[in-house]
Amino acid sequence: MKKTSLILGAVVLFMASFSKADLAKEKTVVATATLKSHALQMSAGEKLINKSDCMGCHNKTNKIIGPAYIDVAKKYPATEKNINSLADKIIKGGTGVWGTMPMTAHPTVKKDDAKLMVKYILSLKK
Ligand code: HEC
Repeated sequence: MKKTSLILGAVVLFMASFSKADLAKEKTVVATATLKSHALQMSAGEKLINKSDCMGCHNKTNKIIGPAYIDVAKKYPATEKNINSLADKIIKGGTGVWGTMPMTAHPTVKKDDAKLMVKYILSLKK
């Protein structure tokens, strides 16, 4: 009798620890799913910007070295012409539009990728 209850106790303990581990696993799965869906919601342009060095000089809402992206969005309507010339500016760099600080050139950024970045930036206009 004593032995049986001991075994039963062990089984209960085992099951309890097992279900805890299961719960932890479930939480991890949920957390990963949330992260993934955020990555999915990020536009291609935003991802490219996060991967590049842009954030060292730009911020969405505040001027750092370069203008805030929302200010860029306010200045330029999202026309094909603006998207094209701003993409060129990202690749070639330049100065004189927002002040005397120059933007460095990004010769390794592909034109199509630069356009995606510009589309994302110009989409930030409220
Ligand atoms: C070394 C700092 C620096 C980095 C890195 C940088 N920028 Fe800039 N950016 C600037 C400055 C300074 C200006 C303002 C240039 C001017 O006045 O003509 C600017 C301007 C811009 C503009 C507006 C251009 C215009 O003519 O109005 C866009 C769009 C832009 N940056 C996007 C980007 C993107 C996208 C990246 C990353 C690939 C990037 N920048 C990286 C400093 C930087």
